[in-house]
Amino acid sequence: MSEIAKIELEGKSYELPVIEGTEQEKAVDITKLRGMSGFVTLDSGYKNTGSTTSAITFLDGENGILRYRGYPIEQLAEKASFLEVAYLLIYGELPTTAQLAGFKKSITEHTLVHEDMKHFFEAYPSNAHPMGILASMICSLSSFYPDSLTPNRDEAAKNLTIHRLLAKLPTLAAWAYKNSMRHPFNYPHNDHDYVKNFLQMIFELPSQKYEANPVVVSALNKLLILHADHEQNCSASTVRMVGSSHANLYASISAGILALWGPLHGGANQAVIEMLEKIHKDGGDVDKWVAKAKDKDDPFRLMGFGHRVYKNFDPRAIIIKKACDDVLQALNIQDPLLDIAKKLEQYALEDEYFKARNLYPNVDFYSGIIYKAIGIPTEMFTVMFAIGRLPGWIAQWKEMMDNGEPIGRPRQIYTGYTSRDYVSIDKR
Ligand code: CMC
Repeated sequence: MSEIAKIELEGKSYELPVIEGTEQEKAVDITKLRGMSGFVTLDSGYKNTGSTTSAITFLDGENGILRYRGYPIEQLAEKASFLEVAYLLIYGELPTTAQLAGFKKSITEHTLVHEDMKHFFEAYPSNAHPMGILASMICSLSSFYPDSLTPNRDEAAKNLTIHRLLAKLPTLAAWAYKNSMRHPFNYPHNDHDYVKNFLQMIFELPSQKYEANPVVVSALNKLLILHADHEQNCSASTVRMVGSSHANLYASISAGILALWGPLHGGANQAVIEMLEKIHKDGGDVDKWVAKAKDKDDPFRLMGFGHRVYKNFDPRAIIIKKACDDVLQALNIQDPLLDIAKKLEQYALEDEYFKARNLYPNVDFYSGIIYKAIGIPTEMFTVMFAIGRLPGWIAQWKEMMDNGEPIGRPRQIYTGYTSRDYVSIDKR
C-alpha cells in the first residue's frame, strides 16, 4: 500500500499522498491541500519544495552524487564529448554513432548567424557585459525565426530550434567578446569540433593563427559537461517557469541566461577571480578576508564556497580540480592569485566555521581559475557557464513541454495592509 502523510490543521486531520522517485526520494504531494483545508505551504527560496518530477538529472547533495539520465558525471566527464552529453540530456539516451554524426552535422550547419545580427553588436558600448548582450541576442533570434514563436509544434520544427540554439550560442558568445575588444569577428569553422570552434572564434586574430592546446580542449570539454545540467537550479527553474507560459524557446533560454548571471549562481565564477584579485591587491592577507567572511556583521562572503544542495562535497569540483591542475601544469602558469586560492581551499578543509557549515569549494571556484589560465577574460566566465548549461536548459524545457505541465504560478502569504479607504492627496 502506498504511503500517506497525515497533517493536522486547526484540529482537523488531512491525508496527503506520498510520492517516491526512482532513487527513493520521497515527497508529500500537497497539490490538493489548499482545496481540502484552505492552507498553502510556505517555503521561501524553495529550500524544501519540489517544483516538478523529472527524469533528467539525479543529484544527491548529502553524498555528492550527480548523474545525467543515470550516468555518473565522473564517467561522462572522462569519456564523453560535450555534444554526446547534450544529446543524452535532451533526448534521454546516449546517441548511436549514426545519431551523433547526424546531430553534429546539423549543429555544425547552423553555426552561422544572420549577418543582420552583426549590426546589433555595434550598438553596444565596448564595456557592455557579455551576459547582457548574449541574453538579448538569444532573444533576438526569435525575431529571425518567427516560426519558432509557437513552441509546441511538430518534433522536426522543435528540433530545428534546439539545434539552432546549440549551434548559434557559441558564435554569439564569441562575437560578444570580440565586440568588447573591438576586434573583427571570426566566423565558425565547420571542420572544428564544438570546443575547438569556440576557442578559435574567441582567440584567433587576423594577424595570428590560433592553435588550441589539447589539454585546454580536454579541460574545456570536461567543464562544459560538468555544467551541462544541475536539475532544478535557479536558471533551469526560470527556463521552465518562462516556458510554462508557452513563451518561445529562445525567450525561455534568454531568461535562463539572465538568471544565471547573478553572483549567487553562475556569476560566482567571475566573482571568484574578482575576489582573489581584491585580496591580492589588499596585500594577500588571507586570514583577514576569511575573518571577514565569518563575521556576521560583514556582508563579505567567500565566492566559490558553499552550495545550496551539496552539503559534503561538490562532485564536479573534484573532477575540475584535477583538470585545473593539468591546465596549470601544461601551460606552466605561475600566478599569485593561485597561491591565495590554495590557502582559501586549505581553510575549507581545516577551519571549524567552514567544517561546521559544510562549506567546500564549489565548481565555480576552480572553473574561474581554469578560464583565467587559458586567457578567457573574467567577464566571459559566466558566458562559458551558459554555453555549458544550454543543453540542460533545453532538456528541462523539453521535458516540461512534453509532460504538458501547467503554467508556473506560486501562491503567497500576503503581509501588507488590510483593506483601507483611499485618501485624497491634500489630506495625506
Ligand atoms: N562564505 C562565508 N559563509 C558562508 C558562505 C560563503 N561563501 N556560504 C554560506 N555561508 C554561511 C552562511 O553565512 C550561513 O551561516 P550561518 O548558518 O551561521 O548563518 C551558512 O553558511 C549557510 O548559508 P546559506 O546562505 O543559508 O546557504 P544557502 O544554501 O542559502 O546558499 C550559496 C548557498 C551558494 C548561495 C552560498 O553558499 C553562497 O552565497 N556562496 C557564495 C556564492 C557561490 O559560490 N555561488 C556558486 C554556487 S555553485 C554554482 C551554481 O550551482 O549556481
